[in-house]
Amino acid sequence: MTVGIDGIEVWTGKLRLDLAETFAPAQGENPGKYTKGLGLYASSFPDTYEDIVTMGANAAHRLMDRKGLEPEDIGRIDVATESAFDNSKPVSTYVGGCLEQVYDGDFHHANKGERKFACISGTQSLDDAYNWIQAGRNRGRAGLVIATDTALYARDDPGEATQGAGAVAMLISEDPDLVELSAEQGYGSADETDFLKPQQQFPSVDGKRSVQVYLARMREAIEDYESVVGKIHPDDYVLGPFHTPFPGMVRKAAALAYRHFSRDTEIEVSLAEEIGRQPRREAFDSDEAFREAAAEYTDALTDTDTYQEWYEDVIEPTLKISREVGNWYTGSVHVARVAGMKHALENGQNLTGERMLVGSYGSGAQAEFHAETIQAGWAEEVGAMNVDEQLADRHELSFEKYERVHDAHNHDVESDVDRFTAPEAEFVFDGWGRMGERKYTYVE
Ligand code: CAA
Repeated sequence: MTVGIDGIEVWTGKLRLDLAETFAPAQGENPGKYTKGLGLYASSFPDTYEDIVTMGANAAHRLMDRKGLEPEDIGRIDVATESAFDNSKPVSTYVGGCLEQVYDGDFHHANKGERKFACISGTQSLDDAYNWIQAGRNRGRAGLVIATDTALYARDDPGEATQGAGAVAMLISEDPDLVELSAEQGYGSADETDFLKPQQQFPSVDGKRSVQVYLARMREAIEDYESVVGKIHPDDYVLGPFHTPFPGMVRKAAALAYRHFSRDTEIEVSLAEEIGRQPRREAFDSDEAFREAAAEYTDALTDTDTYQEWYEDVIEPTLKISREVGNWYTGSVHVARVAGMKHALENGQNLTGERMLVGSYGSGAQAEFHAETIQAGWAEEVGAMNVDEQLADRHELSFEKYERVHDAHNHDVESDVDRFTAPEAEFVFDGWGRMGERKYTYVE
């Protein structure tokens, strides 16, 4: 049985902050840190009537409408988020409630839940839906997976540079139109304290360490994946969507991945004249000396035409949306998948039957790799999305407006900020109920 993603929709927060033009000068920083170092041009923010529920429900609504689905076609709703506002009632119940306002049927027989493991929980929710279908428990119905986050940091935290907000809705089904998920997976998982939110809204982050932990767990996961599928060659995968907290992170990960994949291949041999062979641990007296030589080799490798061509084809396309929206935490790797396929469509590439290597990551920390085989309906699916329109329609924030928006979404600050955009044909946050629940309405 073929099981995978049948369709995807994204929903960006409606506000845009330009990092080089607006944020960097206000912070007294060089714009190059953002555009060249982190690889980010802008961040998406939610307007005052938007939150993880509205963004998730709006993405799901678009997806269900486009696929011609009714609530009875959906057997489960899994929401992945690290921005939840309730320790008991899951976001998926709110999303189901929203969708029931616009459909005749209901989701009373759908299994709903919420997944938490930092940014990797979106991919874990895909696993849950995949396993549910493979186990034959779905009664012919599809699973709705929604990854939704407001990735905000405390003001003046270094992470403020990488903020973002948006949702990705994915439909998981038999005979999918977009991609088949591989049964094979690899994991790299360890108890780490690099990024966490112990009963607090904004994360405590050890930024530099989080970068090292990302690379270490990704490496562990690749090795685990190769122990299942055999050695990977750089040409095996047409695209490599990785979790993208900021594109500069993926630039570091891609260099290490390519070094690993090209070791003991004809690529290493053909590059030997230019940059030498890869250092091997047994040739060094200490780990430190080996690490230094490996880092030097990696720098030289990334300067070669061979590497740069691979990077331009396989990695760069996956970063194009992230550069414009920042980090969407649980949705980030799924945005990278969309970006890569969208770029291929716009460039007349035929991806049918090709494979992608998808690398997910969540702080705390865990990485996962699996493959996805692109299905015949991919071009129609990706062509039906309106990503460019959504990005272009965002309201541009001045720094002063940004400060007010950050306050409006800060649970510890009393603020009364007017909305910046007018909602149309979408779910909006509509105030609080008598038990402290959040309330939502559909605006025509
Ligand atoms: N021109 C070109 N490049 C410049 C530059 C300029 N004028 N100024 C700085 N740079 C480069 C720096 O050299 C650096 O690149 P390298 O790492 O390749 O050297 C890059 O821009 C960033 O500069 P800094 O390291 O000085 O930036 P920083 O100290 O302010 O913080 C950060 C960077 C630690 C990533 C911070 O943004 C942060 O804490 N982010 C949140 C945590 C995070 O995203 N971690 C990623 C892994 S964890 C994860 O993936 C989970 C998740 O989603 C959060």
